[in-house]
Amino acid sequence: MQNNSTDPVRILLPAGGNTVKAEALTKQFNTTLVTEHDEAGGLYLCAGADGLSLTDGSLSLTVDFDQERKRLSPGNLQREMLVKACRIKGRERPLVVDATAGLGEDSILLAAAGFSVRLYEYNPVIAALLRDGLERAAKNPALAETVARMDLHEADSVAALPALPQPPDVVLLDPMFPQRQKSALVKKKFQLLQRLEQPCENGAELFAAAVEANPKKIVVKRPVKGEALTEHKPDYSLTGKAIRYDCYVFAH
Ligand SMILES: C[S@@+](CC[C@H](N)C(=O)[O-])C[C@H]1O[C@@H](n2cnc3c(N)ncnc32)[C@H](O)[C@@H]1O
Repeated sequence: MQNNSTDPVRILLPAGGNTVKAEALTKQFNTTLVTEHDEAGGLYLCAGADGLSLTDGSLSLTVDFDQERKRLSPGNLQREMLVKACRIKGRERPLVVDATAGLGEDSILLAAAGFSVRLYEYNPVIAALLRDGLERAAKNPALAETVARMDLHEADSVAALPALPQPPDVVLLDPMFPQRQKSALVKKKFQLLQRLEQPCENGAELFAAAVEANPKKIVVKRPVKGEALTEHKPDYSLTGKAIRYDCYVFAH
């Protein structure tokens, strides 16, 4: 499995934290378990009593889908460009493969809108944060039904897409674009993620793997003025203030 981590991560077990999770992660990542962070700004996965977080001692990032509930309300979902971009006529519960799952924000939106979502994330630290967020959401009565439609796989989608058990309706691609790296508007929490992720350099390979999955549609998230992911021209695009969805439709 490809691992594009750029910074090594240690496991932090704070007072009252989750010892079982901390020990399992220490083994999984073959790294050191500590009980407090140093002053040098190293990266830690912190197994707290309330869930897993990524921290450098000053910034902290947790996958908390409960905070997304306003975005997941039925009224808002109908307005979301992502939901419109992924819709397939005549399909009640379309299957989307989110090939670049990240923190699952796009996936949960689609799951709340009624899609079944198969998620792929190859970075083990991001996958651990996402898995922990999904596990907590599964115990939350307001989110359990939605996350039951989400199926996370820690794997490289370039290898996984051509070998899916069934052709999906939609493949969603949101590889990290270089502009985000430099943007002054980058949210603080994403500063931590950028220590783990590198901007995507294999867009063409990712797109080719998505085509091999034989979907009805490929939806690619781009910055509004960014270039298309590949030389292929999208069939149409949905354009918002900052984001554009390039849609490629395949006749079956
Ligand atoms: C910009 S983020 C996606 C954010 C996501 N759409 C969300 O809503 O949270 C891109 C993510 O895709 C992952 N990724 C990139 N290429 C991948 C691949 N070939 N297979 C699996 N994950 C990949 C990166 O590790 C990163 O977490």
